[in-house]
Amino acid sequence: WPAFADDIEAILELKRARNAVILAHNYQTPEIFHCVSDIVGDSLSLAREAMEVEADTIVLAGVHFMAETAKLLNPGKTVLIPDERAGCSLAESITANDVRALRERYPGVPVVTYVNTSAAVKAESDICCTSGNARAVIESLGVPRVIMIPDEFLAQNVARETGVEIITWKGHCEVHELFDRADIAELREAYPGVTVLAHPECPPEVVEVSDFAGSTAAMSAYVSERKPARVALITECSMSDNVAVDHPDVEFVRPCNLCPHMKRITLAGIRKALEENRYEVTVAPELAVRARRAVERMLAVR
Ligand code: 13P
Ligand code: SF4
Repeated sequence: WPAFADDIEAILELKRARNAVILAHNYQTPEIFHCVSDIVGDSLSLAREAMEVEADTIVLAGVHFMAETAKLLNPGKTVLIPDERAGCSLAESITANDVRALRERYPGVPVVTYVNTSAAVKAESDICCTSGNARAVIESLGVPRVIMIPDEFLAQNVARETGVEIITWKGHCEVHELFDRADIAELREAYPGVTVLAHPECPPEVVEVSDFAGSTAAMSAYVSERKPARVALITECSMSDNVAVDHPDVEFVRPCNLCPHMKRITLAGIRKALEENRYEVTVAPELAVRARRAVERMLAVR
């Protein structure tokens, strides 16, 4: 990527000078994902890896909740997000007050909270989950009924796999909610034999007609292990771009939607973040103790 060479060189040098590492989500653009990142992955693996970082500074190339989770799990490090506006429609869909109201309405029912939420919401929760471990987390609780917030579709998709009753919330991912059953039917018609992998934030009608549903890491693993001749990843656009680099023999059909929040992170922004130590992510200590408990409880589930 010659157009990016200047920023890439500067970032590699700044990382050395500052003893910094870059953790990047699978939805980052290929030049970030492949050229400057030290660790890439889904929300779950980024959380696990953040905990192990020994460098002084973590630059989180992803959205705000991911940076906040890194700070919760490794509070002694400086955690930077290159653009503070990199949010998430799911995180926006629910507040700590909403969780307290749910608890009043359903006394004694545990609250399972998707990591795509603020630290304030996590602090009101019993345990967190990601798209990679939602079913295991819910079943680890050993109860007949849970509240699962805020992603309604993820909750409905998990409910189909487990005997646990799930009380849902009306949050949606603005990227994945746009796919529908007709999109998949059109794909199958236009690209015979295509293997369809969907993210579980998609509506259940999409997951129902897909060949597989799983986290971004699970989709990537599916392609590596099963090597479908032709595949469609029903998710954010950069996902296919990143996975395709390692699989020149697989045809990637690319119906996709861009996440405007993930796309706020750029090489120029990462460079500035390292040059100017911005934007530092902090979590109030009282909140951090309770939010960390919910995330650590999740990480203990295997
Ligand atoms: P994953 O945990 O599957 O990477 O998903 C994160 C996300 O934001 C999906 O929209
Ligand atoms: Fe949030 Fe959806 Fe963007 Fe993921 S893709 S960060 S869930 S808005």
